[in-house]
Amino acid sequence: MIDLTNKIAVVTGAARGIGKGISETLSKCGAKVVIADLLEDEARATAAAIQESGGKAMAVQTDITDLQSVAAMNEKVKSKFGPVDILVNNAGWDRMKPFLKTTPEFWDKVININFKGVLNTVYAIAPGMVEQNSGKIINIASDAARVGSMGESVYSGTKGAVISFSKTLARELARNKINVNVICPGPTPTPLLDDMKAEDAFAGKVLSGMDRIIPLKRMGAPEDIANAVAFFASREADFITGQVLSVSGGLTMC
Ligand SMILES: NC(=O)c1ccc[n+]([C@@H]2O[C@H](COP(=O)([O-])OP(=O)(O)OC[C@H]3O[C@@H](n4cnc5c(N)ncnc54)[C@H](O)[C@@H]3O)[C@@H](O)[C@H]2O)c1
Repeated sequence: MIDLTNKIAVVTGAARGIGKGISETLSKCGAKVVIADLLEDEARATAAAIQESGGKAMAVQTDITDLQSVAAMNEKVKSKFGPVDILVNNAGWDRMKPFLKTTPEFWDKVININFKGVLNTVYAIAPGMVEQNSGKIINIASDAARVGSMGESVYSGTKGAVISFSKTLARELARNKINVNVICPGPTPTPLLDDMKAEDAFAGKVLSGMDRIIPLKRMGAPEDIANAVAFFASREADFITGQVLSVSGGLTMC
């Protein structure tokens, strides 16, 4: 079992879906977990469930697209738990539609959440890691960034930006013993996927055959992604930085 005893971990978008799975796993590994999400009630429920099972967690309503909101969250974490050791940039959003049917307003929303949100959290939280001369940053991108994904052009672009940003950040922060790595989930049933299917029949069609075409014959589960996050957050991964790992049952292999 990976040991993260007393490490302080901020997980964005942790109220539900993959982020919830990540926070539960990090808690089982001994970390104190911060559930940073727009959804206040759901974030509280996730934190309460972790506490009920003996872990330490706090919920902080946070909008990652707003630097002030992220900075305020960081201050709350510092005063209740202490300086952040692990930052997991997991919050994300998308809808499936062909690029020519999208609008500039849609691009702004996708870019603000999926890319600028990551810039904001790193900008607010990484200086504390530099001061401590240690830290782990794990960014959740997507296989859509690596191989493209029909109907997810702008989203794929933002996740590609997350990968490029992470590699450069890994180089810049290596001298401060801060590791920066990226995990690319493949299709993983979550409320996000449910919303996409509910809003667009095309998304339902694309996702319906996945179990058959994934080499390991199933879609991912939040725990699959969470196990990879726990590894990147651990001492065992101290010599790994600037890397991109697909957790997709072999759907992509390049
Ligand atoms: N589910 C998949 O198939 C899949 C595949 C590849 C990558 N991903 C990525 O995994 C991550 C998690 O996705 P998920 O499927 O669990 O999604 P989800 O919608 O189920 O959960 C995402 C969470 O992010 C939060 N969030 C959204 N905007 C926010 C903001 N501005 N500030 C703070 N929180 C915000 C939401 O409230 C929600 O709780 C995302 O980055 C997504 O792009 C998911």
